[in-house]
Amino acid sequence: MGNQAKLSADGKDYEFPVLSGSVGPDVVDIRKLYGQSGLFTFDPGFTSTASCESALTYIDGEEGVLLHRGYPIGQLAEHSSFMEVSYLLLNGELPSKDELDTFTYTISRHTMLHEQLLQFYRGFRRDAHPMAVMCGVVGALSAFYHDSTDISDPEHRTISSHRLIAKMPTIAAAAYKYAIGQPFLYPDNSLSYTGNFMRMTFGVPAEPYDLHPAVEKAMDRIFILHADHEQNASTSTVRLAGSSGANPFACIAAGIACLWGPAHGGANEAALNMLHEIGTPDKIPHYIERAKDKNDPFRLMGFGHRVYKNYDPRATVMQKTVREVFDALKVDNPVFETALRLEEIALSDDYFVEKKLFPNVDFYSGIILSAIGFPTTMFTVLFALARTVGWVAQWNEMISDPHQKIGRPRQLYTGPTQRDYVAIDKR
Ligand code: SDX
Repeated sequence: MGNQAKLSADGKDYEFPVLSGSVGPDVVDIRKLYGQSGLFTFDPGFTSTASCESALTYIDGEEGVLLHRGYPIGQLAEHSSFMEVSYLLLNGELPSKDELDTFTYTISRHTMLHEQLLQFYRGFRRDAHPMAVMCGVVGALSAFYHDSTDISDPEHRTISSHRLIAKMPTIAAAAYKYAIGQPFLYPDNSLSYTGNFMRMTFGVPAEPYDLHPAVEKAMDRIFILHADHEQNASTSTVRLAGSSGANPFACIAAGIACLWGPAHGGANEAALNMLHEIGTPDKIPHYIERAKDKNDPFRLMGFGHRVYKNYDPRATVMQKTVREVFDALKVDNPVFETALRLEEIALSDDYFVEKKLFPNVDFYSGIILSAIGFPTTMFTVLFALARTVGWVAQWNEMISDPHQKIGRPRQLYTGPTQRDYVAIDKR
């Protein structure tokens, strides 16, 4: 008999198997708990709950480790590309050169949008938040690809995954162009995945678009840093939506909606807005005190993490990338100095040290994106663009699991017990 966990409740004893992964905490398999004991577990926010088995991404929050299929994020950010990391997440191994070239070519062949889908943008107000546009347009993809929504067919799953990865840059760039009243640019597949996106976003039909190699490299690295992150809120949303058999386009639209929240993917926009609100380093102590004040809803955006109780390894790469982009673009933005000073002060304050609140991936990303020329409203759109490969990889992993079933949590009910209806003239 393997390792067992014992539970005593109402004078009865129960035993449940303890399962081990390849690395990380063991889990208590409580799938039979309710059947044997009539008890539920209670874990709002899932702080102690493993919702699934996965081989994609491993995070050690205490040590600040992030692995994609076993490869450390720092090495992937240094040596890989977003297309290669996408292949790795989807297929489990780093590709050969031929495999990478074939994958990149396949993705490039799905970058265009149906002309009717481009009409959808016309229905939005010009000042619509681009994340609202992303939710609508990505969800609408379901209405265009009936030939690839049979999720039981691996071929359909593959082409839907490729379409989503390929079309997100075109959809994101069009959302930006619509907001600023410029014409959409069609993809140019002679460019890299990231170069294509940057041209569709910042290029204009009237002249050639020159992209600084250091900026292209920085953007590609930012996409790598955002590609996947275990069972975060938006990935869990995609998995739960997918568990009902919903088509992948609808599931990814659900993930985009969840990512938009300021506690999750919306934090990069909120973090830069916060840094601008703070302004100069002399104002930092006031904001640190506000962040510590239980009666003040203000939090240091870009700080803290459900899993990382150490420095988010992505933030380390992001901070280094700020300097590279600033040097390349000859930017001297004081907001970076404010961010560095804020980090220094916060990490020497007992409140943040005791609660293990460190900068996360969102703390520095906005500074880079702003220097490159993106408005803050586009920051979470870029997060969604990059996270799409993680969402589809997690979705594929779930759908391919022969034991997969619809996700249906229970509850601790605290409402009124049964009572009889009272006629309105008796109330
Ligand atoms: C992302 O899950 C993922 O992997 C997400 C992500 C991904 O790649 O998918 O990594 C991307 O979402 C990164 C996180 C971006 N969000 C922010 O930067 C928003 C600011 N951070 C907080 O909202 C918060 O830290 C969370 C939401 C990130 C985590 O919240 P938890 O795990 O629910 O922790 P908590 O809110 O219970 O905080 C623990 C304590 C609390 O104090 P006490 O009630 O124990 O006294 O720390 C405090 C919080 O008040 N706290 C903060 C704080 N974050 C937590 N206090 C001040 N400033 C902060 N930023």
